[in-house]
Amino acid sequence: MSKEAKLELDGKSYTLPVVEGTEKEKAIDISNLRNATGFITLDDSYGNTGSCLSAITFIDGEQGILRYRGIPIEELAEKSTFIETAFLIIYGQLPARAKLKRFSDLLTANQNLHEDMKYHFEGFPSQAHPMAMLSAMINAASCFDPSLMRGENSGRFDMHVAQLISQVRTIAAFSYRKSVGRPIIYPKNAYKYTANFLHMLFSDPYDDYQIKPEVVRALDLIFLLHADHEQNCSTSTVRMVASSRANLYASCASGVCALWGPLHGGANQAVVEMLEQIHREGDDGSKFIAAAKDKTSGRKLMGFGHRVYKNYDPRAKIIKKACDEVLGSLAINDPLLEIAKKLETAALRDSYFVERKLYPNVDFYSGIIMRAIGIPVEMFPVIFAIGRMPGWIANFKEIHEDSKSRIYRPRQIYTGPTLNHYLPLDQRHTAKPNNA
Ligand code: ACO
Repeated sequence: MSKEAKLELDGKSYTLPVVEGTEKEKAIDISNLRNATGFITLDDSYGNTGSCLSAITFIDGEQGILRYRGIPIEELAEKSTFIETAFLIIYGQLPARAKLKRFSDLLTANQNLHEDMKYHFEGFPSQAHPMAMLSAMINAASCFDPSLMRGENSGRFDMHVAQLISQVRTIAAFSYRKSVGRPIIYPKNAYKYTANFLHMLFSDPYDDYQIKPEVVRALDLIFLLHADHEQNCSTSTVRMVASSRANLYASCASGVCALWGPLHGGANQAVVEMLEQIHREGDDGSKFIAAAKDKTSGRKLMGFGHRVYKNYDPRAKIIKKACDEVLGSLAINDPLLEIAKKLETAALRDSYFVERKLYPNVDFYSGIIMRAIGIPVEMFPVIFAIGRMPGWIANFKEIHEDSKSRIYRPRQIYTGPTLNHYLPLDQRHTAKPNNA
């Protein structure tokens, strides 16, 4: 492969270095382009921009491949747990037994919020969206550990990681309890990560929720499948904030906000709302597909399409299978599952979706599993955020460990007015409405 690219511009010739990744992905390094030529590159929505070098996650969207630290998602889904995978993503390798135990003990030791945090929850109205509470409370939690403000020099990074992974789950459960007006349930040391979350969500003070292994496994799998996904909208946001040397909690709270939108982590909620609407209206899905194809309708087939995958999202394949298994073992017959399958079949036969390579993404079936577990739709993006925390932390760590990393600061091409001057108030004409 050529080690450099040639650029002809205004009669001059420039050479630009070519960078190649370990999986043979190629990029033209334009970091010196403006200095050399006066030009910048323009790539609205970053569809063709590599914003960093990263050793965490590999995706081949054309072939539907996803690997964390080189390990295929299918293997991790079958053999690992969320917590072991979190360690892998953050620290770069699968942990040996002693390291895994230490990590797990650290999570347990740090699962409780500072007792004063409870008063913060009281300030939210009962209808507050749990994503709003989650981002606000992650920032609030940072106020209880002053060593966070010392950043990477605190020597407590492992502790901060454990606090964040463990407490985000406690905050999420407390937010849910607040939103349904039920008492907060504290975590139990005896439970593992995902079982403990279910306990905090669904137990009552004198009536423990019966934890079913198949439910724990299904939710753990959802966390694991969401654990990282290279430079998506929320992870890029975390990196952007981290690049300013904001602390770990502030950086990850910004990730929660970016994730909230229906085009990203909010899609799982939007999918179930779409399926519910189809069910209510007794439609076979064809009206929805027609609307999604009509650019003037403002609608999309939620849970379909992906910026990177132009093939079946490998996570969607795994989730679809898990969906059948968990609903079967809980003897739940959810009409939304049938609707989703019919919708998928219809879309995959439709030339609009075929030509654009639009396939189901991870969000298409995950909501049906969460519904079966009893998790309300507003909590779906929160579940995604808990799962994505290891990826955000690993990306934060990469930025902080790179001695050459600089603050992220994209440029723009300005299209506003050219030089203009300040007019005193009495000289300004009031614009008249067209029909005046
Ligand atoms: N329904 C209908 N049309 C779609 C859909 C969809 N779900 N997704 C993309 N398209 C169309 C676009 O309108 C565009 O059509 P055009 O070429 O005629 O203009 C074409 O397919 C290409 O799509 P892009 O706009 O280039 O896709 P982009 O990469 O910008 O967006 C996104 C990706 C946001 C995921 C988009 O597919 C979408 O909105 N999907 C629905 C929401 C969703 O499921 N989000 C979850 C994503 S996965 C995640 O975050 C975990």
